[in-house]
Parts: sequence; structure tokens; C-alpha cells
Amino acid sequence: MTTTAPTTTTVLDATDVTMRFGGLTAVRSVDLTVNSGEIVGLIGPNGAGKTTFFNCLTGLYVPTEGKVSYKGTVLPPKPHLVTQAGIARTFQNIRLFANMTVLENVLVGRHTRTKEGLWSALLRLPGFKRAEEASRERAMELLEFTGLAAKADHLARNLPYGEQRKLEIARALASEPGLLLLDEPTAGMNPQETRAAEELIFAIRDKGIAVLVIEHDIRFIMNLCDRVAVLVQGEKIVEGPAEVVQADERVIAAYLGTPFEGAPGQEEAAEVAAAEAHSTTEGDDK
Ligand SMILES: Nc1ncnc2c1ncn2[C@@H]1O[C@H](COP(=O)(O)OP(=O)(O)OP(=O)(O)O)[C@@H](O)[C@H]1O
Ligand SMILES: [Mg+2]
Repeated sequence: MTTTAPTTTTVLDATDVTMRFGGLTAVRSVDLTVNSGEIVGLIGPNGAGKTTFFNCLTGLYVPTEGKVSYKGTVLPPKPHLVTQAGIARTFQNIRLFANMTVLENVLVGRHTRTKEGLWSALLRLPGFKRAEEASRERAMELLEFTGLAAKADHLARNLPYGEQRKLEIARALASEPGLLLLDEPTAGMNPQETRAAEELIFAIRDKGIAVLVIEHDIRFIMNLCDRVAVLVQGEKIVEGPAEVVQADERVIAAYLGTPFEGAPGQEEAAEVAAAEAHSTTEGDDK
């Protein structure tokens, strides 16, 4: 049935993931897959469990129940092993080494792909210097790719907010992932920066890296994603292509409250379509 490339494989397979904190079930029996070549969105109101789900995927939390596989192998719940396996992420609250340069931040992101460890990188031991030479070219490539090459020598803390978010992405890419998880990559960005972030994520996908992205900016999500999953109070209530999800009454009711601009409810959509068809046949629309 599918007309997409026959080489499509399942990159991420999360099955029945549940995360409880004491009496609170933050994530409840969530299944989610991400296939190669896909950009998948994860949306839901504040506190819906989106970040907690990311934390379960990346080994920051050990899920109370369920399992997470990457390219057919079950992941151990240890962040460094997850990164090594091929999953990279950015954080909702930017986590950069503020007093290191832009280039150094990306070099640190390469530590899982070099023989030198993180501490060696942070302490700038001699081994790191050698590895740094070998990694520098790749890091500069990534800075070119993310549009930060001109700022390679700037301190991370001096970058404007939008560029700090981009640098987090560059650093995540430095671990050469097959799957990139982005937690609110456009939070705090202006519309122009958001557009640029969209382009960047498409370019990442085009490089063969699957993407799972959490975002509150619905327009951004709907433009970007092949598929969108909706979490409400820890449960996945709907999943499907963006155009299906944005017209789903349950999403509008449970998540948005009222229909958002550009995403009318089904009734309204039908009314608009009927009105358009009518005016087209009459040829007197303004
Ligand atoms: N470490 C923790 N201990 C206890 N409760 C937690 C912990 N982490 C998250 N929670 C709770 O789990 C629920 C889900 O939080 P989470 O941060 O995953 O939501 P979110 O969907 O990412 O929200 P937002 O859109 O605001 O970022 C919330 O009720 C939160 O308070
Ligand atoms: Mg969150």
C-alpha cells in the first residue's frame, strides 16, 4: 500500500511506556514509533507528560513499565548508552556550557564518538587535544550546517537565544545520531527564527536523521511533521497525519479548548468547503 521508499525501517519503537512518580502517572501506556525519514510531532498541554516521555526514551528515567527499542535493539536506561546507540536530544531548558565557545560545545557533543571521554574534553587533557584536531573539521561542518560557523569562537552565553537553541541542535548532531529528539526547539524564538528552525529540521531529516519533536507552536508542528501524536494527562489520545490530527474533535476539545486559526473543526471545515464550492460555481466570491 505504501508508496514511500521501500527501505523504510522502524528507528524508534516505544511500547507500553508508563512512568509513575509516587501516585502520579505522568505517562500512561504510551506506544510510539518513529520510522526512518520521518519527522514526528508530540504535542499536548502543559504537564501532559511530553518531557517525561522523552526522559524515558533517553534513559534519564527508568520507565515504570514498557520498553524502548532503537533500530530493533532494546535500549538500556542509561543516557550515555542511549546516546551511543544513536539517539540525541535537546532540552526544554537550554543546557549549554555557557563559558565554553560555540565550537567547544560541539566538540564536547562528539565525546561519545571519539575515544576521549567527556572529562578529558572538559579538562582539556592532552588526549582531548588530539581528538579535538580530528573532530574539529566535523564540528565546523555542523556549525556550517546550522548557520553558526561565523560564531565558532564566541562564548555560548553571548549568543542570542535563538542561536543557543541552534547550538544545542549542533551539539546533539555531533554525536552522529540516527534519531534526534527536540524538546520545544522554538520556545522563545521570534517568527523569523522559527521559520529558520523549521528549515533546519527539514535539512536534518534530509540527511537521514529521523526526528521526534515536542512543540507548543501548533502551526510549526503542522507544517513540519509527517505524523503527530497527542498526549493528554499522560495518555496518547490521538495519532495521525498532521491534517487529520488538527481536524480531530478530541484534540480540539481536550487540548486546544477552542479551534485554532487555520485548523477549524470538522463542522466548520465542512461549512467552509461548502461555501467555497458554492462561490466557485457562482464565480462571485471576493
Ligand atoms: N521528576 C519528577 N517527579 C515528580 N513529578 C514529575 C517529575 N517530572 C515530571 N513530573 C510531573 O509529571 C507531569 C508531566 O510533566 P512533563 O514535564 O513531562 O510535562 P510536559 O508535557 O513536558 O509539559 P510542558 O509542556 O509544560 O513542558 C507533571 O505533572 C509533572 O509535574
Ligand atoms: Mg516539557
